[in-house]
Amino acid sequence: MKILGIETSCDETAAAVVEGGSRIVSNVIASQIDIHTRYGGIVPEVASRQHLLTIISVVDQAMTEVDWRDINGIAVTIGPGLAGSLLVGVNFAKAVAMAKKLPLIGVNHLEAHIYANWLTSSYQSSPFKDGETERMNCGVYFPCLCLIVSGGHSDLVLMREHGHFEKLGRTRDDAAGEAFDKAARILGLDYPGGPAIEHAACSGTPCLPLPRAWLQGSQDFSFSGLKTALWHLAHKGGVSVADAAASFQMAVADVLVTKTIEAAKQLKVEQILLSGGVAANKTLTQQFLVNSPVSVLIPPPHLCTDNAAMVAACGYYNLQLGKISGYELDVVPSLHIG
Ligand code: KG4
Ligand code: ZN
Repeated sequence: MKILGIETSCDETAAAVVEGGSRIVSNVIASQIDIHTRYGGIVPEVASRQHLLTIISVVDQAMTEVDWRDINGIAVTIGPGLAGSLLVGVNFAKAVAMAKKLPLIGVNHLEAHIYANWLTSSYQSSPFKDGETERMNCGVYFPCLCLIVSGGHSDLVLMREHGHFEKLGRTRDDAAGEAFDKAARILGLDYPGGPAIEHAACSGTPCLPLPRAWLQGSQDFSFSGLKTALWHLAHKGGVSVADAAASFQMAVADVLVTKTIEAAKQLKVEQILLSGGVAANKTLTQQFLVNSPVSVLIPPPHLCTDNAAMVAACGYYNLQLGKISGYELDVVPSLHIG
């Protein structure tokens, strides 16, 4: 069964065809980063206009090798995201579903991030610390604990079965990706901040004292205090950008890894699943690999950041559960998970 996925929630226009919820047949992403970089962040109106310009060619490209008669459903992100951007994808998907007489499947972008872990090019890390054999592509086992760390969300979600999401924790202020973007701005680095901080940190050491908000007794996260501490450090002067970037990155990783692993032990889950743009960060993933007592699934970087393959994979499982949308389907910019 092949699903065409469409993603336009933020600044990537993406379309992909995925077979059986896991095999990527095509995966096309038109990034708008170059356009938004000059403004230092995403300009919503510019983003939606750009989606309009590119969506037809992106879908055409994703369908190059695929016959429309082999497509069994159209999955599209309905939220969370920018309203104008979401509208482009949802209306396009509706039109195609209507014209081709295919089921329309509305998808929650956060659930889709989790489903990047079902794509077969996702890899499984080893739970072992001392160099024992890596177990590749072993699949996902329930119950699993999902950490979604993106530009807009930091959510800790327990998944006992397909389509069942129980939110355990969330950010109380900045999302992890948002914190990276703001930290980069403080340090005079480019947008998007995550890759810029990661790159700058390569030539530094995590030697600076930055705070960690543990929020004892809660599975929530908080990163705004860390951001403020970085601001004070940077404005005091005499601190290298590389060391500041490395210290910031380590502080974020430390909190995410420690709190997620603590919850995984308490809940006795089979696996930890990482997802969202921040899961592309190597310091974060290495810290998980070294410290987790259970195996950790981490999609490759291009499937951590926004893409439509994850939307198609999520759409496949929604369809299996009978979750089909009507033509009245609308965008939900503030949609949550769990
Ligand atoms: O999941 P995503 O592509 O879009 C949202 O749904 O928000 O996440 C984008 C976020 C941005 O804040 C970006 O700075 C961050 O992910 N990001 C990273 C890395 N790559 C992207 N953060 C840390 N390290 C990275 N390598
Ligand atoms: Zn995303």
